[in-house]
Amino acid sequence: MHAFHYRDDRLFCEEVDVAVTAEKFGTPLYLYSAGTILDHYGRLDEALAGLDHLICYAIKANSNRAILRLLRDAGAGFDIVSGGELFRALNAGADPAKCTFAGVGKSREEIEYALEQGVYSFNIESEAELDYISEIASAKNHRAPIALRVNPDVEAGTHQYISTGKSENKFGIALERAAKVYERASKMPAITVRGVQMHIGSQITEAAPFVSAIEKIAPLVSELKGKYAIKFFSIGGGLGIAYESSIASGSGDWWTSQRSHPLTIRDYVDAILPPLTRFGLRILLEPGRLLVGNAGILLTRVRYIKETTQKKFAIIDAGMNDLIRPALYGSYHEIVPVEGRGDSPNRPEPSRSRFKNTIKREKIDIVGPVCESGDFFAQDREMPELRAGDLLAVMSAGAYGFVMASNYNSRPLPAEALVRGDKVALIRERQTLPQIMSGERDPHF
Ligand code: LLP
Repeated sequence: MHAFHYRDDRLFCEEVDVAVTAEKFGTPLYLYSAGTILDHYGRLDEALAGLDHLICYAIKANSNRAILRLLRDAGAGFDIVSGGELFRALNAGADPAKCTFAGVGKSREEIEYALEQGVYSFNIESEAELDYISEIASAKNHRAPIALRVNPDVEAGTHQYISTGKSENKFGIALERAAKVYERASKMPAITVRGVQMHIGSQITEAAPFVSAIEKIAPLVSELKGKYAIKFFSIGGGLGIAYESSIASGSGDWWTSQRSHPLTIRDYVDAILPPLTRFGLRILLEPGRLLVGNAGILLTRVRYIKETTQKKFAIIDAGMNDLIRPALYGSYHEIVPVEGRGDSPNRPEPSRSRFKNTIKREKIDIVGPVCESGDFFAQDREMPELRAGDLLAVMSAGAYGFVMASNYNSRPLPAEALVRGDKVALIRERQTLPQIMSGERDPHF
């Protein structure tokens, strides 16, 4: 569910004409709907109403301060994975006591910073990390609240790069080993055992893997509650979203087969609630994609149309440096025109709707300007006939979009804007060329 919709062949985000935002801020532009983010947060929060719970938004999905503020104001805590994310959360006004610190490779500086700020829990990923945190906390005369991230060895049924709950993954501590590690942790003077955590992967579109992971960990959770009076059980994030609505058609890859059957919030909560209620613990959730994925688009303009003997290409002004998901995971993003042909100023044709099949449709590759063949957004995608100057919206780009952007090919990071009702605000300026080079120095050997 999201707030992007057509009105008379023009794409709107809530009450704002998307083409107007492109004029105002330029392209490529990430455009987000505040209403959609709050709606998703509200639905999840409401579905969990009967349970003592805290939703810790996984900042890694989209870390713009304006979005963090929105979610903080709605009552969210935060799941952070670096000192940088903690800095962002605090900068956005987050309460550190509502922040959990995950990640397999925390540094001394990050651990010290998180201890000083008073995070709710360090989610421990290895025994070596437990020892390290204990040593740092002792040296600082602090006590570090911890949870072990337990790896339940379940198949999440997702892309191999984002599956995290199998024993061959680098994440967490094996379920069989966990009780022993807790026993050791409980004897460490600078450690407080506070909870238990799991996260089995991302873009999961069925409830079954969550339920089986919870059930596998359940006996340990009960044991920990009895022995160490743990306070919380974090079930991680991972809820998948729909990457297709109805306009575009796909290419038959992994993401395509998954995309049309997202697990609804209701189904997810109905499935996990019964096994969770019996613990009598505070339940933490760490959703990222669910809250922001469908709430954002990447707005881009077609620069050139190029035809070869084999193919037709639309070369757009966004590249894999702006949105790397198709290149990295082969992921599917629906791509739709922002302006119906008849409404576009440079159109000689009479007003005709793209959606009444009166416009010619054709298969085309939608590619970026970066010097790599992997720089594509869609291949052989059926689209209404495109022309240079057309505006396109790459849908469902609100999660793992901007945050994974880079300066590859010395391309500036794109701008970001946020819509709320009939208003739109720039929430990140487009990077400038001097900014890209600002940290570089001549060596003076
Ligand atoms: N908690 C932990 C410990 C995580 O590692 C993650 C995501 C989350 C929560 C949030 O998961 P979500 O609810 O967003 O599925 N770049 C990839 C996704 C990587 C996910 C990494 N961990 C993509 O573009 O699909």
